[in-house]
Amino acid sequence: MKTKKFVLATITAGAMLALAACSGTGNSGDGGSGDGGLIGVAMPTKSSERWIQDGNAVKAALEAEGYTVDLQYAEDDIPTQVSQVENMITKGAEALIIASIDGTTLTEVLQTAADADIPVIAYDRLIKGTENVDYYATFDNFLVGQQQAWTVLNGLGLTELDGTPIDGAPEGPFNIELFAGSLDDNNAFFFFNGAMDVLQPYIDNGTLVVKSGQTAIEQAATLRWDGETAQSRMEDLLTANYSDGSKVDAVLSPYDGISRGIISALTDAGYTVGDEWPIISGQDAEVDSVKAILSGEQYATIFKDTRELAKVAAGMALALLNGEEPEVNDTTTYDNDVKVVPSYLLAPVQVVKDNVQEALVDTGYWTAEDLGL
Ligand code: GAL
Repeated sequence: MKTKKFVLATITAGAMLALAACSGTGNSGDGGSGDGGLIGVAMPTKSSERWIQDGNAVKAALEAEGYTVDLQYAEDDIPTQVSQVENMITKGAEALIIASIDGTTLTEVLQTAADADIPVIAYDRLIKGTENVDYYATFDNFLVGQQQAWTVLNGLGLTELDGTPIDGAPEGPFNIELFAGSLDDNNAFFFFNGAMDVLQPYIDNGTLVVKSGQTAIEQAATLRWDGETAQSRMEDLLTANYSDGSKVDAVLSPYDGISRGIISALTDAGYTVGDEWPIISGQDAEVDSVKAILSGEQYATIFKDTRELAKVAAGMALALLNGEEPEVNDTTTYDNDVKVVPSYLLAPVQVVKDNVQEALVDTGYWTAEDLGL
């Protein structure tokens, strides 16, 4: 089975070998080789498939332009990420592309970068509390949250996927529980606020009931987006609120890894697909979760094409290195507490069982084999 990842890895490895052979020099670590300078790419963790896709795509895009890439993963450990970025600066990186673990912890190291005139691109997650972040490449994160909520309402038969109410929809009430992402990630607030913008009216009019009463982001949050943390919170919610025989009808989840934890908790508590199984949202179109959509465990995910994001971020770095101004399409939304960071927002796409083929296979993001189709 030849997946896209294998193909990409093969091309990248092949290109590295060819270039190393030409120049007669090897490169340590993950670095490629080319005529351009070095660009540092810092990613949060390999434990989530999406960041591996992201890292590979950014690296390939920069190497295609002749740059050498130092790609590092920090396994969600903040000091590790800080020292990786420090090392990139020491090695002479000419630009930095960073998907932060905690958006507030890079202030000092980015001052070092600024002192050395190294431009910084925030990748998918906003870097906060510093003026030393030049551009931000991401998706429309508020819309992601709205789309997640619309998938939940759609699964319950209340609205179309774009939020349009369905005539003759069931009255409910439906029991829903809410999950949010990691509070040190600015995106978590955008996703949750976007989702609550859609869900709150349904909670207010009694169509949706949050039996736990946990509707604040601080209560719903999941540190480091960790699936096991979400699983144990879901277990607690079920024990505390659904031991009376009532059922949870829907769970708002901001990310596929969290959804998988929620699914495990539900399965352990005796829920079965096809028999009052709840509607569960997600994000990132990770392979296991797309399979879960096909099998009915998860209702939907939000597909954010990491190939496009990588292209935008790499393009921003290249533009800056060429003395050009990167293209942006949002100069008002992403205030990092020191400044509004000029941003390029890509469009997220809702995926349910019906459009898996069209959104993910026809676009070449996953192969039919990857998804077991
Ligand atoms: C967010 C990102 C999401 C998801 C999450 C967990 O910052 O926007 O797409 O990947 O992190 O990794």
